[in-house]
Amino acid sequence: ETVYLKDYTPFGWIIESVHLTFRLAPEATRVLSRIRFAPNPDAPAQDFFLHGEALSLISASIDGTPVDPQVTPQGLTVAVPDSAFTWEAEVEIAPAKNTALEGLYMSNGMYCTQCEAEGFRKITFYPDRPDVMSIFTVRIEGEEKVKLSNGNPGKTGEGFAEWHDPWPKPAYLFALVAGDLVSHPDAFTTKSGRDVDLNIWVRPGDEDKCAFGMEALKKSMTWDEDVYGREYDLDVFNIVAVDDFNMGAMENKGLNIFNSSCVLASPETSTDANFERIEAIIAHEYFHNWTGNRITCRDWFQLCLKEGLTVYRDSQFTSDMRSAPVKRIEDVIDLRGRQFPEDQGPLSHPVRPESFQEINNFYTATVYDKGAEVIGMLKRLVGDEAYSKAVDLYFDRHDGQACTIEDWLKVFEDATGRDLAQFKRWYTQSGTPRVAVSERFEGDTYTLTFRQHSPDTPNQKDKQPQVIPIAVGLLNPNGDEVLPTTVLELNDSEQSFNFKGFAAKPVPSILRGFSAPVVLERDTTPREKAFLLAHDTDSFNRWEANRDLARDCLLAMILDGAGPDTAWLDGLEAVLRDDSLDPAYRALMMAGPSAAELAQVLYARGHTPDPEAIHQAGETLAQFKSERWVDLLPRLAEESRVTGAYTPDAEQSGKRALASAVLSLQTRLDGGKAAAEQFAAADNMTLQLAALGQMVKSGTGEAALEDFYAQWKHDRLVMDKWFGLQVAALPPEEAVERAERLTRHPDFTITNPNRFRATLGALAGSHAAFHRKDGAGYRLLAEMLIRLDDLNPQTTARMCAAFQTWKRYDSAHRAFARAELERIKAKPKLSRDTDEMVSRILNG
Ligand code: ARG
Ligand code: ZN
Repeated sequence: ETVYLKDYTPFGWIIESVHLTFRLAPEATRVLSRIRFAPNPDAPAQDFFLHGEALSLISASIDGTPVDPQVTPQGLTVAVPDSAFTWEAEVEIAPAKNTALEGLYMSNGMYCTQCEAEGFRKITFYPDRPDVMSIFTVRIEGEEKVKLSNGNPGKTGEGFAEWHDPWPKPAYLFALVAGDLVSHPDAFTTKSGRDVDLNIWVRPGDEDKCAFGMEALKKSMTWDEDVYGREYDLDVFNIVAVDDFNMGAMENKGLNIFNSSCVLASPETSTDANFERIEAIIAHEYFHNWTGNRITCRDWFQLCLKEGLTVYRDSQFTSDMRSAPVKRIEDVIDLRGRQFPEDQGPLSHPVRPESFQEINNFYTATVYDKGAEVIGMLKRLVGDEAYSKAVDLYFDRHDGQACTIEDWLKVFEDATGRDLAQFKRWYTQSGTPRVAVSERFEGDTYTLTFRQHSPDTPNQKDKQPQVIPIAVGLLNPNGDEVLPTTVLELNDSEQSFNFKGFAAKPVPSILRGFSAPVVLERDTTPREKAFLLAHDTDSFNRWEANRDLARDCLLAMILDGAGPDTAWLDGLEAVLRDDSLDPAYRALMMAGPSAAELAQVLYARGHTPDPEAIHQAGETLAQFKSERWVDLLPRLAEESRVTGAYTPDAEQSGKRALASAVLSLQTRLDGGKAAAEQFAAADNMTLQLAALGQMVKSGTGEAALEDFYAQWKHDRLVMDKWFGLQVAALPPEEAVERAERLTRHPDFTITNPNRFRATLGALAGSHAAFHRKDGAGYRLLAEMLIRLDDLNPQTTARMCAAFQTWKRYDSAHRAFARAELERIKAKPKLSRDTDEMVSRILNG
């Protein structure tokens, strides 16, 4: 059942062409395939095996002669000629019954597909592996008004449409959409003069929510031309919004399919955060056209080859479109919030995993986000120019191929002459490296000594030192920068760096811009952190100094019963009063570390985290801040007021982010009065939702929740917010019961992943509620996951990750969590997806 990277063998045949005909019917779609195979001279001898799952085989033939293949639940084998031949098959599938949302399925009466990673085998018999690339011609027969597939449009007529994709592609990039859709059209002309028709296809009624996504698409196309020299390569680019979708979106060639939550936007229904995310995801999927589609992965172990690189590219795009410092901080918050727990718990795996049972379980923060960090480190180490040169070489050398991480690193070695053997450990070693720093000042020489070590992780012990780029700057005691950002390259387990010519001991600013995804261990005084908070020229480290102080303050409150650290709060106040600083940046400064992050730090330092105590400390600190800052709050509220029409750009959304941070403190003073006013007056979702959240939190939100429901019950995406917000904002004593009640609400649809995630994901994300000491949080999630598993294994398995930290808590928590994990594990006919996740979480 387990697949290993080391077992890779090429497929025994190449495919010259694929012709597919779909006769659409909800319960009985017929798929006819005609595939031209020729022996692959580079492959070892093997039986002819085609993947196929849940397909009824109607007929099969080779070169026109009927054959009778041996069919198993995984696929078929059949005897084939020694030379080239044509395979034809007809199968029947039932898209209307497909609740797993993998393969061909239906969403609100519309046909759509999701094939990555291994969904094409649920459509027809095929070598469903990314290194088998071919040219697809598709004919769709059905009465639906709109019928789409990959590539360029061909003939259309009464009840049919044909598509031809000239670019060879693996089956995971296949897509089909059919339904009574409407489009928001536009056009783009590439640098070399190709006219491209652009469309965003939606259900009637959603046309007015496409404009922002379309602008994001055009910006992405221009950016990829300008920054990476990459042009689009077909006559059409179609995006389709689908309500039922397991992930965010999918980069199918020329036909990107999106979770509607990741493309539809309007000021009235979407928050600023939604807009930013939509812009990034549109860019991400578009950028895949080169990093993923033109150059794809040899096998699924290489997933980070396309995902790490494409996440890195979309983060560069967002930095260029918005604020680079803000984007960097957001990404690091996300990395620490999602990737660090993964890397430091039972689900830890290398950026390039070595084995898996179900590949869908490896679309992880490690593969995506740590994968992107690895690219960022590589760029920092070789420099911007060498990075461009290497990436150009990658496109030149590997266009049209299915590649590996070795291919990727080789272009950097060839372009720069650098040996990357050690750097490669970032791809093969799991776990978050720890870097301990000590300093010495002697004569005029300042010395920094670094020691690195990586703790053991499941299946990996005794790790080797990695190449860690550490960006460092030095400030003199007056706060002037005396050494601008310099990248130190740490290769050994212990290494020292000298800086000469200082009259007084400088203050170091280490790991600027979070130059490597590591945990920095350094004993410094609060005074030094306060100094960096006041003076650091690196915006990331300035934010980081504040975050460290906030964290240390909360830890002291939790562990020693200390009161809030007023020296820190005064330093922070000075920063917040500095109106030369971007409001978005100041909003980030106002947010402390999350409860989950505090739990993680406590655990790493040898304490058993107590979710109630963590929650209480957060509440106490927030109350203290709001009382201490009675003068500051109105001033910030004034500064963050937006005038003029709503736009979702960085400037306005930064102001609204600051306003929301202020409102949350203000609500603690006025019992929800300002929030209620804002709720009543809001003309955009950002302000409306922020106000509603504060009202619910302060216990004055129940009527507003009903008003909100009445206002928005027709809009699925806004209703997702309504489901999620109550669970997230209510105090832990009420959140679990509310989540439970919501799962029985008439609008709760278990088959819709967005609704399920909104409700149960909010529970899992509410630290004190999920880890409630009577086990009620664990019980509800487990119960719902058990119900979902038969319907949608992928989403079930992903959400099991909520339990990944279970071993950190006290024995009562552990007993409850273990019982629930074992209950899931014991479910009859548990999916392979969920089984793998629960087993790893229990045993890792
Ligand atoms: N390639 C898609 C993206 O990152 C993700 C699709 C993953 N889907 C899945 N079922 N595993 O853009
Ligand atoms: Zn992707």
